[in-house]
Amino acid sequence: MNDGKTFVGRIKGQTGGDDEEITRGGMLQTPKGVHDILPNDHEYHTFIKKVVRHRLRQAGFRRITTPMFEFTELFQRGIGADTDIVQKEMYTFQDRKGRSLTLKPEGTAGVVRSYIQNGMQNLPQPVQLYYIEPHFRYDRPQKGRYRQFWQYGFEIIGESDPALDAQTIYLANLINKDLGIADLFSIQLNSIGTPESRKEYIRVLTDFYFDKDRSLCEQCKIRIKTNPMRVLDCKEENCQILAQLTPKMADYLDAESKEFHEDLKQYLTELEIKFVENPNLVRGLDYYTKTVFEFWDKTEGAQNAIGGGGRYDGLTELFGGPKTPAVGFAAGIERIIANMKREKIHVPHKDVIHIFVAQLGKEAKKKCLSIIADLREVGVKTMGALGKDSIKTHLKLADKFGAPYTIIVGLTEVREGVVIIRDMKVGTQKIVPMQDVVKEVIKLIGKENLDAYSPGELLYG
Ligand code: HAM
Repeated sequence: MNDGKTFVGRIKGQTGGDDEEITRGGMLQTPKGVHDILPNDHEYHTFIKKVVRHRLRQAGFRRITTPMFEFTELFQRGIGADTDIVQKEMYTFQDRKGRSLTLKPEGTAGVVRSYIQNGMQNLPQPVQLYYIEPHFRYDRPQKGRYRQFWQYGFEIIGESDPALDAQTIYLANLINKDLGIADLFSIQLNSIGTPESRKEYIRVLTDFYFDKDRSLCEQCKIRIKTNPMRVLDCKEENCQILAQLTPKMADYLDAESKEFHEDLKQYLTELEIKFVENPNLVRGLDYYTKTVFEFWDKTEGAQNAIGGGGRYDGLTELFGGPKTPAVGFAAGIERIIANMKREKIHVPHKDVIHIFVAQLGKEAKKKCLSIIADLREVGVKTMGALGKDSIKTHLKLADKFGAPYTIIVGLTEVREGVVIIRDMKVGTQKIVPMQDVVKEVIKLIGKENLDAYSPGELLYG
């Protein structure tokens, strides 16, 4: 917040009254709701990416990246013109030719567009794709809700069978297990049937709310006219109380959707996946048919769900493609990280330094440059203090960087063709001939700890 003493630059927010600080204390800062991913959080991002890639590769998925922005129409048609996302949360802008473009608020619409545009219906089906990307929603920033956030997601396109829905839920849960957070979430499950079977239900639902709209929140008063089923999973207390009393979709499902759902539940039981049947689960995107599911925090409920998904058999047709059934899931990576931290889960990472090289004088620096290069080449993670400071200052730095050993080279060492290796924990030092330094360091840190992975080598043998 502004301390009142400094000038605060402001821009007028899009929704009026939502003025935003551009600078704080005279320094430029990020817009509201977006964040830098700093190195410590990247350790989590890297680990999550590894788990996701591993589990999805095992299951035959391949990675896809769709553009950061698409024609606005894609999201209007796909997510639905009356959804909160399309109505209020999209970053939409015009390009220089006046075309309306939108930063992608979610991944499914783009993946399905790409499936059709690239003729993937000609590949063996189903086509299984995954993505790990930032998405953008102009939401009110708060805990777990950002304007740029990362999702990993996966889609199975080209086949309709409840076993695929079961696989989707199984994989999402397996990834949560690998990340150590599966037990924190309950799997909420519902079927919202086909669009045809929903018509009758929506009529009954609208009738139910006909004389009760005074008890609904302002948003739901509108929703009941534009997107009535969304009233069911509104988070406002009054709306929730009413939602308990509504007629249930399950009673209006067509026979095929009913059988599909029963089969799905049996498959989940077979896979030993616990789920909670939630007749009011609708989800905020219009493309779903039959299965919808969400991973809810066991203590916080629907607030800050970690991920959700479902079946969307009609989406390809909405985009002008051939009828193609599909099912998928996406999870929020910031929310996963917040839960991992809450659980005090530390991820393994390789961002540690083995050796710090301290030097004094031009001649020493020359020698050190090649020592540093040789050490790195064999996989010793090496940092050099190549500035003009004293050895004492370099040693302090080595300590701050947490290096277990420091190599010290001064004028005397250059003259005698040796280096000093200092054990930073114990404080002991030994003198080693310069030509033996790499061998000696490997002995100290252990061959098994070398970071010798070189993707380039894989290419050139
Ligand atoms: P979604 O439920 O809108 O589904 O988003 C999935 C997850 O993304 C949420 O559960 C949440 O963890 C995260 N998320 C959403 N909005 C934000 C935000 N503003 N800040 C932080 N995290 C957020 C979809 O996006 C569908 N495309 C999922 C899907 C894939 N359905 C079928 N295939």
